[in-house]
Amino acid sequence: MNILLGISGGIAAYKTPELVRRLRERGADVQIVMTASAEEFVTETALQAVSGRPIRSNLWDKEAEASMSHIELARWADVVLIAPATAEIMARLASGAASDLLTTLCLATESPLAIAPAMNHVMWNNPAVQANCKTLAERGVVVIGPDSGSQACGETGAGRMTDPDEIAERVFSRALRPRAGEGRLAGKTVMVTAGPTREPIDPVRYITNRSSGKMGYAMARAAQAEGARVILVSGPVNLAEPRDIEVLHVLTAEQMYAATLERIADIDIFIAAAAVSDYRPLVEETRKIKKDAAETSIALTRSKDILASVAALAAAPFTVGFAAETHDVREYALSKLQRKKLDMIIANKVGADCGFDCDENSVDVYWQKGSKSFPVSDKSTLAGELIALVAERYEDERGTGTHTELAVLRTNDIAS
Ligand SMILES: Cc1cc2nc3c(=O)[nH]c(=O)nc-3n(C[C@H](O)[C@H](O)[C@H](O)COP(=O)(O)O)c2cc1C
Repeated sequence: MNILLGISGGIAAYKTPELVRRLRERGADVQIVMTASAEEFVTETALQAVSGRPIRSNLWDKEAEASMSHIELARWADVVLIAPATAEIMARLASGAASDLLTTLCLATESPLAIAPAMNHVMWNNPAVQANCKTLAERGVVVIGPDSGSQACGETGAGRMTDPDEIAERVFSRALRPRAGEGRLAGKTVMVTAGPTREPIDPVRYITNRSSGKMGYAMARAAQAEGARVILVSGPVNLAEPRDIEVLHVLTAEQMYAATLERIADIDIFIAAAAVSDYRPLVEETRKIKKDAAETSIALTRSKDILASVAALAAAPFTVGFAAETHDVREYALSKLQRKKLDMIIANKVGADCGFDCDENSVDVYWQKGSKSFPVSDKSTLAGELIALVAERYEDERGTGTHTELAVLRTNDIAS
C-alpha cells in the first residue's frame, strides 16, 4: 500500500517517526509531506531516515515537482493519512483550501483520506473545530481518534493523538475504501435509502419525523468502503453529500418510492434505512389553512410500502430493512422480517435520547436463521460492522454473482 503521510504542526508530530515505522512494518511504502509548521516539531532528517524517501514540503520545489509532480503524488497514494491533524489543517481541508502542498494533494487525490486529530482539549471542544471535523466525516474522511488522557500542555482531556500502532492498524482496516475492484462488495451495486420524508399538508406545512439520515449515510459510505457502487436515495437531510456516491434527492414518500423502483433492476443489495412516512395527507391544500376553527383534523392515507414492494419483486435484490420501534422492538422486527419477506432486519430502539438524530446507535439484527447484537457505538463504526454482516449474509445466500447474473440463472431455472 502506498501511504502518503501528511504531518501538520502539532506537538504530537514528534511521534510520527514511530508511526512511519509501524506503517512500514505492515508493508507500506510511505511518502511524507510536511507542512511548514510541522518542521518546527520533527526533523526532516529523522523522517527521511525512517521512511527511506526524501520529504516533500514545498509546493514550489522545482526539482521535486519535476521528478514526481504533486498530481502524480496524489495519484500514487492509495491512502492519504494526516497525523497529527491540527485544528488549522482541518479548517483548511473543510474549506477546500489548496494553499500548500498537503492541502493541494488532498484536493487532487481520489484515494481515501484519514485524519488523526491532535490538539489541546479546549481547542478540540471548540465548536468551530467540531464543526470542521463533522463536515470532513460527512464527506467520507475517516477520523481516527483523538484519545483522552494527559496532554503535552499538562492538562487532561480529549485531544491526544491516537497511539501510532492503532493508527497504523486502522489504516490497514476496511474503514478505508479499497481501490475499485477490491472489498467484499466489489462489483456489487448497493442502494440505500436515508433520512425522513416530508409530506405536504398545505404550501407551508408538512408532516415529517426526527430521522437525521446519519445512519443511512453511514451505511452508504460503509458499503462504498467495501468496494460497492452505491446509490443513495435521500430524503431532506442536513448532511454533506458523500464523495463518489450517486445521490437521488427526494422529498415525499411517493417520490422516494418512484426513485427507488425506477433504479431497482440493477441493484444487488437494497438497504432501507429511511424513515418513510407511513401516512400522508389525503389532500394537499393549495392554499395555507387558516386558523378559523378551534379544532381541525387532517385526513391521512397510507403511503406505498417501499420496502415490501422491493422485497416482493420477482427478481428482488438482497433486501435489508430497518425497524425503529419505541417498544417490543424484537417482536415487531421479527414480524416485519416475516411479513415483508426480508433477507435481514436491523432493529433499533428509538426514543427521546436514542436512535434518532444522534451520533450513536445500538441495534439487533435478525435473519431467517440467526441474529446478532451490536452494542452502542458511533454510527460510522456500527455501519462498517453492519455492512460486513450484510456482505457475509449476502455471500451465504446468493453466492458471489451479480444481480444480473443471478436473475439470468433464475430465468434459466424457470425455463428448465
Ligand atoms: C508549541 C506549539 C504546539 C502546538 N501544538 C498544536 C497541536 O497539538 N495541535 C494543533 O492543532 N495546533 C498546535 N499548535 C498550533 C499550530 O502549530 C498552528 O495552528 C499552525 O498554524 C498549524 O499549521 P499547519 O496545520 O499548517 O501545520 C501548536 C503551536 C505551538 C507553538
